[in-house]
Amino acid sequence: MKGVILAGGLGTRLMPLTRVTNKHLLPVYNRPMIHYPIECLVNAGIRDIMVVTGGDSAGDFLKLLGNGSDFGLDDIHYTYQKGEGGIADALRLAEHFADGDKIVVVLGDNIIEKSIRKAVGDFFTQRRGAKILLKQVEDPERFGVAEIKGNSVVSIEEKPSNPKSNYAVIGIYMFDAQVFEIIKTLKPSGRGELEITDVNNAYIAQGTMTYEILDGWWTDAGTFDSLLKATNLVAQGGANRTDDEVGGRAGELAAAGIPA
Ligand code: G1P
Repeated sequence: MKGVILAGGLGTRLMPLTRVTNKHLLPVYNRPMIHYPIECLVNAGIRDIMVVTGGDSAGDFLKLLGNGSDFGLDDIHYTYQKGEGGIADALRLAEHFADGDKIVVVLGDNIIEKSIRKAVGDFFTQRRGAKILLKQVEDPERFGVAEIKGNSVVSIEEKPSNPKSNYAVIGIYMFDAQVFEIIKTLKPSGRGELEITDVNNAYIAQGTMTYEILDGWWTDAGTFDSLLKATNLVAQGGANRTDDEVGGRAGELAAAGIPA
């Protein structure tokens, strides 16, 4: 399986921080934001990674990340999104790189506490379709929101004013190679973008969408409040903690008499 990190966009919700740089190069505690999604994929065992970026600071990604040796990688692939067409439009650019393989897509401003290795392993053995990760939140209207019936997601609504649940669809998506055909059928939404939620709804209609509930904290970092939250969460305990680290910490806490 291959990994695709979407790190384009104008970052308008973070103006003026994003006037002269790309959102994903801004600091989250002690590292640039883009480090976290790369580490997330590497921890899940994915070593073939493409970064999709755009705008005037695209060259800075190469300066910062080079060939990925900081993450133990042999190389990193890059591609460039012209203009602002939305998440699904950016993903379209990874078709050649994916070359028929399944992919794990991570939005460059999404940061999580724990490893997604198990979910990635489950998707590896899923015959076809897609998998999303859900997390209960207090402000579902900010996100894609899943309606769940039994073991299935029956619909996803993008930023609904009356959410049908408090399960947000986090910005980590697993797709088979059909995703690129689905993107070609999409029409721009009201905000003029090709929406990832429309891609996910196409898989739901096909009956091939699965989901898992994410363990550990998750946040985006695309607004002032969420960037602050991300910084605090990372500062308190670190992101992308491996199963060993989490187990080790649980052991330490248990030894200190603190229940998990
Ligand atoms: C995007 C997606 C949304 C998802 C969110 C996760 O929203 O459109 O479905 O829940 O990422 O961070 P954005 O923050 O780009 O508006």
